Amino acid sequence: MTQDELKQAVARAAIDYVPQGIIGVGTGSTANFFVDELAKIKGRFDGAVASSEATAQRLKGHGIAVYELNEVGELEVYVDGADEITVNMHMIKGGGGALTREKIVAACSRKFICLADKSKLVDVLGRFPLPVEVIPMARSYVAREMVKLGGQPRLREGFVTDNGNLILDVHGLNIMNPVEMETSLNQIVGVVTNGLFARRGADVLLLGTPEGVKTMRA
Ligand code: A5P
Repeated sequence: MTQDELKQAVARAAIDYVPQGIIGVGTGSTANFFVDELAKIKGRFDGAVASSEATAQRLKGHGIAVYELNEVGELEVYVDGADEITVNMHMIKGGGGALTREKIVAACSRKFICLADKSKLVDVLGRFPLPVEVIPMARSYVAREMVKLGGQPRLREGFVTDNGNLILDVHGLNIMNPVEMETSLNQIVGVVTNGLFARRGADVLLLGTPEGVKTMRA
């Protein structure tokens, strides 16, 4: 099976978790497959909150109603992909640059369903460079702070987030304690959001493997 077929399989499996009301939808290629699956059942739920402009456009393109998070309050379910995930349901996210809105929608959701193909399941987070969204004027300062932590930050060239900020992709971090690292990165002035989703990890992982979709829980 190709990686896209695995992503499609988990997207299909996630349909079982769609509530009747409004669902939170993530960003990225796996989330896109999920949006396409949602389109097939659009009469069965009320609409969605999107974690990025790109996802909002895709949802609208399918005729699915898109709501502002502030209009709807708490969501039952959030469905999104990940760049890396551990069996403890800690993740690195933000490869697509939507980490801030993803973390906000995830925080407002009772259940986080992560969709991943088996290449995303790792023992230790950090091989995938950690995305950090920064306020533009703090870019150099935050980069120096990342070097102090042992990372090698690289500016994501030509990329501006939906919030008008920049992304530093931090290479070389060996993230043995994701909750601690997420908390310390949050303390650095100028950091908007870091791509560690450990304090609020996933509740369910739907993992695409050639043998079928495996369900793992926190
Ligand atoms: C978007 O900002 C990311 O957090 C994505 O959810 C994550 O990068 C997974 O993307 P893919 O499904 O494209 O691998």
